[in-house]
Amino acid sequence: MKMKKILFSMFLMLTPTLMMAERADYCIIPQPKSVQTDTTQVFVLRAGMGIAYDSSNPEIARNVQFLRQWVEELTGIKLQLTPADKKAAVRFSIGFPADKKNKKAKKGQKVPELTEQQQEAYAITIDKNGINIQARQPIGFFRAAQTLRKSLPLPAADRSFIAVEFPYTKITDEPRFVYRGAMLDCARHYFPLETLKRYIDVMALHGCNQFHWHLTEDQGWRFEVKSLPELAKQGSVREETVIGRNTGVYDGQRYGGYYTQAECRELVNYAAERYINIIPEIDLPGHMMGALHVFPNLGCTGGPYPVWPQWGVSRDVLCAGNPETLTFLKTVVGELCDVFPSKFIHIGGDESPRDRWKQCPKCQAKLKELGLEKESQLQTYINHEMEVFLRERGRDMIGWDEVLEGGLTEGGIVMSWRGINGGIEAAKQHHRVIMSPTTFCYIDYYQLKDQGRQPLGIGGYLPVSKVYSFEPLIPDQLSEEEQQYILGPQVNLWCEYVAYPQHAFYMLLPRLDAISEVQWCRPDQKDYEGFKTRLPRMLKLYDKLGINYCHQIE
Ligand code: ACM
Ligand code: ZN
Repeated sequence: MKMKKILFSMFLMLTPTLMMAERADYCIIPQPKSVQTDTTQVFVLRAGMGIAYDSSNPEIARNVQFLRQWVEELTGIKLQLTPADKKAAVRFSIGFPADKKNKKAKKGQKVPELTEQQQEAYAITIDKNGINIQARQPIGFFRAAQTLRKSLPLPAADRSFIAVEFPYTKITDEPRFVYRGAMLDCARHYFPLETLKRYIDVMALHGCNQFHWHLTEDQGWRFEVKSLPELAKQGSVREETVIGRNTGVYDGQRYGGYYTQAECRELVNYAAERYINIIPEIDLPGHMMGALHVFPNLGCTGGPYPVWPQWGVSRDVLCAGNPETLTFLKTVVGELCDVFPSKFIHIGGDESPRDRWKQCPKCQAKLKELGLEKESQLQTYINHEMEVFLRERGRDMIGWDEVLEGGLTEGGIVMSWRGINGGIEAAKQHHRVIMSPTTFCYIDYYQLKDQGRQPLGIGGYLPVSKVYSFEPLIPDQLSEEEQQYILGPQVNLWCEYVAYPQHAFYMLLPRLDAISEVQWCRPDQKDYEGFKTRLPRMLKLYDKLGINYCHQIE
């Protein structure tokens, strides 16, 4: 055995620089809960070594394939698949020994149910026996494989390693928040499915688990509704787009694109394999010019309504007094539920001006009929109809924090965006909350002070350091009991000014790195200086994967 080692070391020394051995480094983002490393000893992983796993479980097999593919893609090292009962360098084993001990010790006592975060937990032990990965569920293997992927050394372009040295370590990990989201606005600009898959890959690399897909807007309707075929066909196309920030000058180019239901299903499956749920959003009753263009009878004035070529919020919204409005919404959201299995469905609810409702005889008659006092309550009435409709389909409704204004219906979830106050109020009322305040989570804002050095954006200033500093539980304003209602944080990428994939990733990264530590790590684990030392390895990985990012951080 010793001789083998000596021979291997000599071989390493003699091989040309094209083939090298380098060390893994567990300083990754988001930082795992506990990492205990002994850098004086290493396990050497070489091409041809095996990964042992239970091949009768297709979900485990898929995660093994991910790890195998990532190791080869990044280092050039090919690993072999091996049955679970064979000796191998890398081993996937289901179950934590500590769980069995706990069960024994607590015989007769009720064992507390594991949280969703505990279901995601994993442990990686690296010692002389190799790399042993343990998880309670297959999802834990995926998280562990991502951790190993991010720990790999990266050879220079066109080179590969013949071996990777893994310092001995014991890593145990699980996320802090159950909800770890990122939103992409595909309504102001349409992004191809391949870009969305990339977005999901990048989210998964950071341990995110909820992709909020903003699908409809004043500027375009992007979801195919089969029973209303003209809706996406016509509602997705605007005649032209304003240049810059509503300059009054237009580009004269027709712009459009929508997602067929088949494409949506393809993306749902792609995301699910990466443990990401897709929450679709149909923004209602405002931001509806895409739909009003096709169905002008659903507006208070009767139209005509163009698909908006400029940015901002239209005063024309769905008529709350027209019974056809609810029929339309239920048709659309019904098909949405058929396509998206998500427990959460987003119905928007933001920025819906009440001007037309104040003037509209149908809306005013509805107000009287329902015995309501103000127009905002008409929105609550629509929300309530949609919430019941969704609940009948086993879904929970999410709305932007405006949905609190007329009184939030029971079971609704608030997405707090106009600061944190909506979230605080909702948690105090015992509604579940997703925290995505503009102040910490709006990644459409500039990330550098010097705006001249960035592509044109909506404004604002949200540097990486500010994203990193976010604490979603607001401990000085919420009791421990109220904090339980905060599901987690989310970043939002609005795309009025983001028209191309390269630009979207530039806006996303590395701010997603920062939010991923807010989402994943406990406050006592967070450390911005440490984060900055870990970030360069992630950026090198983005280079290797060909993903764009902002090269400067503030
Ligand atoms: C929003 O940013 N209008 C939710
Ligand atoms: Zn009306």
